[in-house]
Amino acid sequence: MIERKAMATAALRFPMQTPVPPTRQKGIAALASSLFLIVAAISPACAQTADQAWLRPSTMVQRPTISLEPRALGYGIMEQTAVRELTDGNARLLGGSSDSAPGGEKVEAILGTVDEVRRALPDVPIPRDLAPEGYWIYWNGAEDKPSLVIAGADHAGLIYGVFAFLRLIATDHDITQLDLHSAPAFHIRWVDQWDNPDGTIERGYAGRSIFFEGGDVRQDLAPVAEYARLLASVGINGCNLNNVNASPDLLKHDRLQQIARIADAMRPWGVHVALSVAIDSPKTVGGLTTFDPKDSAVKAWWAAKAKDIFDLVPDFAGFTVKADSEGQPGPASYGRSPAEAANTLAAALAPHGLVLYRSFVYNHHLDWTNPKADRARAAYDIFHPLDGQFAPNVIIQTKEGPIDFQVREPVSPLFAGLPHTSQAMEVQITQEYTGQQRHLVYLAPKWREVLDFNFQLNSWDTSTVQAILSGEAFKQPTGGMVGVANVGRDAWLGSPLALANLYAMGRLAWNPGLDPEAIAEEWTRQTISNDDRVVQIVDTMLMDSWPAYENYTGPFGLQTLTDITGSHYGPNVESSERNGWGQWHNADQQGVGMDRTHAYGTRFVDQYPPQVAHLYELPVSTPDELMLFFHHLTWNHPLGNGKSAIQSIYDSHYEGAAKAAEFVQDWTSLKDRIDPKLYADVLPRLEYQAGHAIVWRDAVVQYFHKLSGLPDEEGRAGSYPGRLEAESARLTGYKVIDITPWEDASMGKAVSCGATASEGAEQPASGQALYQGTASVVPNTTQKDGGALAPEGTVPCAADFTFTGKPGVYDIAVQYFDLSDGVAKFSFRLNGQPIAAWSADASLPSHIPNGDNSTRHTIPNIALKPGDFLRVEGIPDGHDRAALDYIELTPNEPSPAASAEPPTPRDTNP
Ligand code: GCU
Repeated sequence: MIERKAMATAALRFPMQTPVPPTRQKGIAALASSLFLIVAAISPACAQTADQAWLRPSTMVQRPTISLEPRALGYGIMEQTAVRELTDGNARLLGGSSDSAPGGEKVEAILGTVDEVRRALPDVPIPRDLAPEGYWIYWNGAEDKPSLVIAGADHAGLIYGVFAFLRLIATDHDITQLDLHSAPAFHIRWVDQWDNPDGTIERGYAGRSIFFEGGDVRQDLAPVAEYARLLASVGINGCNLNNVNASPDLLKHDRLQQIARIADAMRPWGVHVALSVAIDSPKTVGGLTTFDPKDSAVKAWWAAKAKDIFDLVPDFAGFTVKADSEGQPGPASYGRSPAEAANTLAAALAPHGLVLYRSFVYNHHLDWTNPKADRARAAYDIFHPLDGQFAPNVIIQTKEGPIDFQVREPVSPLFAGLPHTSQAMEVQITQEYTGQQRHLVYLAPKWREVLDFNFQLNSWDTSTVQAILSGEAFKQPTGGMVGVANVGRDAWLGSPLALANLYAMGRLAWNPGLDPEAIAEEWTRQTISNDDRVVQIVDTMLMDSWPAYENYTGPFGLQTLTDITGSHYGPNVESSERNGWGQWHNADQQGVGMDRTHAYGTRFVDQYPPQVAHLYELPVSTPDELMLFFHHLTWNHPLGNGKSAIQSIYDSHYEGAAKAAEFVQDWTSLKDRIDPKLYADVLPRLEYQAGHAIVWRDAVVQYFHKLSGLPDEEGRAGSYPGRLEAESARLTGYKVIDITPWEDASMGKAVSCGATASEGAEQPASGQALYQGTASVVPNTTQKDGGALAPEGTVPCAADFTFTGKPGVYDIAVQYFDLSDGVAKFSFRLNGQPIAAWSADASLPSHIPNGDNSTRHTIPNIALKPGDFLRVEGIPDGHDRAALDYIELTPNEPSPAASAEPPTPRDTNP
């Protein structure tokens, strides 16, 4: 163990308090002011403002009649921010400007640090134990002249206090009784952006970077200031600007000058910038012949680079490091350890900067034939032996689970394995493996579970992940939580409801004891409505969404079961098997699951403290949700729920998809209670999710059904009443293709209008002649719905079905593949009459038809009688070949007879 240097704990507590030189302060204050004005002036029209998130105009049912008159006791930039935010919030929430709230009682709001308030108001009972960054909000209720006092332990605390006060107003709290103080549990409360200098964002799902474009920092930094407002409003104090797969260019002096502009834009809200760095930068940027972290020239280079940065950005937060991981350079090239690399950077950044060294280090060429090989072991195997060797300003940043942001994983054992090291937990707001913001998945319950996880060390109270991250458990000087946010230029995140995750991450990093449901309520009240009915429905949707997603993707510890070598989005059960990436779930005809036990498996369980290891060693004491992460079970082995493993998998997928369908109904019930624009924005997203949940359900169920050969007790697997497969229809122009992976299409096949090579082998359609001469030539007219024109002479492909079920009213779902490189057109005809037409213009991953882009269009309320002719026509565009999987007819009136006798396709011409 190295000697822990006498670095002041206070410096590590938040090492970003370096004063900005006065001349620079002036410029920054002016910039902050003008940014604020620009933002305020352009807010209504600007595509990127904080009021698209939770800093919105009031959603209150009744507004209080108080009008605040804010006054700062000091003159710092952040005190000015505090005054402006309170003034702005007062107008936003209480109506009118601070000095013109109609009929409002005028109340002075005094803002300052505790020292300033103590001097100015010696009689108010300021708490003496306000921790750094904490705040105190006090309603000084003299009858004749009440006033409001908001005091921060420091300037950052003052800003957090103002936002906390605004949150209380926005959520309809009585503000006239306040005596409230609060301080953050974690010192490090950062978001990471995985932005690249060219403007792209790795695993970003909301457009291009707000920071970079074309290799440079963008001129327009108004969105950056708005982002800082959002972050500060939930207590986030750091933002790592660039991809952990770091471009070396950002360390060049001219780029650092540009980075300083970003720091200036975020500083007024107390958000400090950090940068990801590549360990080989001394070579790639500095021109040295080596990047060996023990080399004195390399050390000198990092020291000079850090000085360069601090000269430009005096309150620079530090470096994030991904090394020897997924192809990134690292100290292993020189036989050096992560501690040696981290300490070289730490020495360069000391005393004020931090190194957040990621423990996401693993071999992605694992031998899948070796039953003892296990990627889950990697972080602990590599980092635990180094415990005690890290410099005090190094923080080991560990993903919440031992694999990679899967829908469910056990808590990383490394948290308990570094008792002499400061630690941060990395979680993912951007939803890479949890629906990529196209699916509603509120992750706060997941994060809270991890934060509450108890390693059962010596003392129960201080054995939780949150106690470790706060530094309390192991008496470490710092620690915290980092959320990979990846906001972009398209309204921050890919869906308005996805913003609840950004909000919740900040709130939990401030107070990991908060109830995720209470956080959801706070967010909903500020963002959507204060109407109790709306709050109840939205919160239930949010709270149900992670379990639903887990159920229809990868339950029981199977991990997400997505395409792990590609998009990380749609189903691809086999992509995790038999390759070096080590996300195996080991399914075969006999059973499923990774054996990680001590007795027979990879001994991953041994990385946990004994009591926890003991729990996971046996199936009987392993919770169902992690069963297949720790155990390989035969298909008939019962889980804790009493059902066999295979039946549990079938059931959970059906339950999950049914829950996703409920979200649509829930949202629909809010139609007249919420902002019509928000309603209309979210509804199609939820409808899409319900359809994609069916794709997931069917893919995973039919995959394991085939593999296990075991029937579903409920008779659902492999049987789809009301479904008419496109490959069994009478086809005109369409050709049958195999879908890869096969489970992503119903029965493994689809039809494509002129298959491209990448779509696999074309097959003749059930003995049908391909062209019957029935297709008309599409007129070369402009399409009204914005789709691509069919080139002159294009022949649409068609799939014809004859309805033979019971007469009734049906919803007709057309399941097709919507490829992003082309806008195919579809239409639906009933007995030759056009009923519906739509464009396949969604932006979904993958360039071949598969579960990433399988989606549906539902035509509701169609009256059908036996003998009706149903036709789907598809017009391809570019690589989008209008591929079709099936149509599904669901009676939308209770009609037991209809489901007893499902319709069947018949070969016939309309
Ligand atoms: C995942 C993700 C990568 C990312 C990596 C990381 O593997 O897919 O895009 O770079 O995590 O966290 O470093």
